Amino acid sequence: MRHEMGDKKLFEQAKAYAFDYMDTIAARTVYPDARGIANLARFDEPMPENPHTGEDVLHLLHAYGSPATVAQTGGRYFGFVNGNVNTGAFDGFDAICEEARQAGAWVHVDGAFGLWAAASEKRQYLTRGIEKADSWCVDRHKTLNTPYDCGIILCRHREALIEARQASGAYIQYSDPRDGMLYGPDMSRRARAVEVWAALKYLGRNGVAQLIDGFCENAAYFAEALKENGFRVLNDVVFNQMLVACQTPTETQRTL
Ligand SMILES: Cc1ncc(COP(=O)(O)O)c(C=O)c1O
Repeated sequence: MRHEMGDKKLFEQAKAYAFDYMDTIAARTVYPDARGIANLARFDEPMPENPHTGEDVLHLLHAYGSPATVAQTGGRYFGFVNGNVNTGAFDGFDAICEEARQAGAWVHVDGAFGLWAAASEKRQYLTRGIEKADSWCVDRHKTLNTPYDCGIILCRHREALIEARQASGAYIQYSDPRDGMLYGPDMSRRARAVEVWAALKYLGRNGVAQLIDGFCENAAYFAEALKENGFRVLNDVVFNQMLVACQTPTETQRTL
């Protein structure tokens, strides 16, 4: 392994595969095709007795793993929501938080994708009042499209969060600086914050706002175009989602 890392060939091989993945992604279906899924059988094998070369491992992943991935980086990845939730509507946080505060309740805002509305000047009115909540969560791997899994929790009550997450064990040594494991569910984890930092550094505040506005404008465009083509749009398109109805399951299949 050390030897393979020393001559950098594996890195070159991985780079070539990454470029190949990107170069061919536009010609692929977003969801892997039946052949791609069937080829995953290549990974069904007993635990190997002996080592394989890094080259072999990369080759298998590229040849049989990558075609079975969802082509999320291809620019054609989006979701049609066809159901009774996810209209993109926002709750009236101001009033809810006031009422909850009077009742002594804790308000948590699940802002997985929606909290990003606050990044756009045009749409931050949707999140008015969230600052009165006790905690928020927001995902970077949704709206910002960082790699999975870059979820963030922001909590006003530090002690409550630490108490909820506290793990005990004689072998655990706490450090003077902030111990990451006290603020999330895992003790061991990769440096997800690096990807978050990189995305924000790359986009900047204005870039994030443009991204959000672009999503919303696309949703509004889709809604209008679908209406013009005879579809019924069921929601007020206020954010990046629109809900469209077909009359029957057969029509839904045909439309998709
Ligand atoms: C509002 C909301 N909360 C939570 C989740 C779950 O997020 P994750 O899959 O990152 O755990 C989703 C996923 O779509 C979501 O839309």
